[in-house]
Amino acid sequence: MTSRITHPDGYVFAKRHCLSISDFNRVEIDTLLELGLHYCAPQAQRCDHLKGALLVNLFFENSTRTQNSFEVAAKRLGADVVNMAVGSSSVAKGETLLDTAATLNAMRPDVLVVRHNASGAPALLSQKVSCSVINAGDGVHEHPTQAFLDALTLKRTLGDISGLRIAICGDILHSRVARSNIILMGLLGAEVRLIGPPTLLPADADRWGAEVFHDMSEGLRGCDVVMMLRLQLERMQGALVPSKREYFHFYGLDRAKLDLASPGALVMHPGPMNRGVEISSDVADDPDISLITKQVETGVAMRMAIIDALYAARQNGEAAHV
Ligand code: NCD
Repeated sequence: MTSRITHPDGYVFAKRHCLSISDFNRVEIDTLLELGLHYCAPQAQRCDHLKGALLVNLFFENSTRTQNSFEVAAKRLGADVVNMAVGSSSVAKGETLLDTAATLNAMRPDVLVVRHNASGAPALLSQKVSCSVINAGDGVHEHPTQAFLDALTLKRTLGDISGLRIAICGDILHSRVARSNIILMGLLGAEVRLIGPPTLLPADADRWGAEVFHDMSEGLRGCDVVMMLRLQLERMQGALVPSKREYFHFYGLDRAKLDLASPGALVMHPGPMNRGVEISSDVADDPDISLITKQVETGVAMRMAIIDALYAARQNGEAAHV
């Protein structure tokens, strides 16, 4: 029997899927972050908890770090990994998402990692397959594992997230990373601020429990963490910013703007970065302030934790219907 993933309070992790941050309560989140912390140790990253298990990466959108991160994480747990080449698969011949799911399901994977440009696609798939489904980014909706790895990066670096003032800046309108992080960082006790031009903020952003700013110099004041987002041009219909140069002038993070935040403020970015558009190279590459490489490194540990916890719950029958 696979060992159960437990919390000191006696809670046994019993989730079947990882689709949205809002599906998790505080105890579940803490359990996953603690397990993530455990997997940050290099000696913990060699184990066989998933020996004989199969993880399938099903990415309908481009990805470098997320897909590789899941592959490395699963292999470090001892699982076999198949990367479905969607472009050369039957999907390119017009197969529907659900037919693809049925085909994959017949191969009996244990974990299906899905990225899709339609919000809700992983949730739909999760109802049609018998394995665990992890959302690796669905449209502009959510990217829960990115938020978990961002939280774990902050926990490793600063110890506690509660009480931090975190600014999420840039193209919030198109960012699933922002949506997942607003929920997670808020649940963990951080004060979240959103900073961006009105055209890149959803009309109802003020109802998300975060304070909204359109001016970097106001919004960054007193912030401990500055999380920059990429301009997601591929999701924009028409031009929402006058020019990249002007965007950088007002919203790009450089030294001068960072100096407006708290002394010692740390910088994050989920990648891929557009240097000179939302962030300057000297800020992104300064190891004293930039957590960007650490986010990638922590991502493997966090994904190991999520895969391990979902797999253990299913193996032990805890998550039959959750
Ligand atoms: C993000 C994504 O795909 O949502 N990237 C990532 O997962 N590392 C952010 C982005 O594409 O800008």
